[in-house]
Amino acid sequence: MKFFLDTANVEEIKRIHSLGLVDGVTTNPTIISREGRNFEEVIKEICSIVSGPVSAEVISLDAEGMVKEAREIAKWADNIVVKIPMTEEGLKATHILSQEGIKTNVTLIFSVAQGLMAAKAGATFISPFLGRLDDIGTPGIKLIEDLRTVLNNYGLKAEIIAASIRSLEHVEATAKVGAHIATIPGSLFPKLWSHPLTDNGIAQFMKDWESFKKEEA
Ligand code: G3P
Repeated sequence: MKFFLDTANVEEIKRIHSLGLVDGVTTNPTIISREGRNFEEVIKEICSIVSGPVSAEVISLDAEGMVKEAREIAKWADNIVVKIPMTEEGLKATHILSQEGIKTNVTLIFSVAQGLMAAKAGATFISPFLGRLDDIGTPGIKLIEDLRTVLNNYGLKAEIIAASIRSLEHVEATAKVGAHIATIPGSLFPKLWSHPLTDNGIAQFMKDWESFKKEEA
């Protein structure tokens, strides 16, 4: 399973990248706005740190505008993926861009039908938002599981990025149902390698070692 970081914070990316755990990065206009930095500058910096796919989202709502923006964004680095919203215009843009060899990540997917449409239009990645589905009482994990089945049934090449991840349990569940990728907020990532019993165990080992050393002296 691949881990992407769902952040545009360069310090977070560097910290987790140094552990060899960052296979890619996803951003959206909200995430970019949090950094208060120039869009192009921050995306180029992220692309220079991470060799895997880095998603940068268009803001146009019409296919022509999306394609124009995407062609520009795609020039910023070799590992750029252009994020496109899941609309009719977005599908049209995805289809054009896939024919031009520009990688796309179709975002804001909330149903199996939407995921299937995006994959058929030529999306490289599809991003179902599981946390936002959970928020309205619909199990997000079921969508990820169903999408994986549908992609497998028809040999569709799009990879599933489980997005809108809010908890450790979300990450574990997406791994169990076969999401290709989980995109994880930087603030959540450290929870993946932590456990209170690990901390307690280390503290006990240290305490016992200190007592042993004192007895020895
Ligand atoms: O990758 C999409 C993700 O950033 C959305 O997360 O928490 O805003 O639903 P959230």
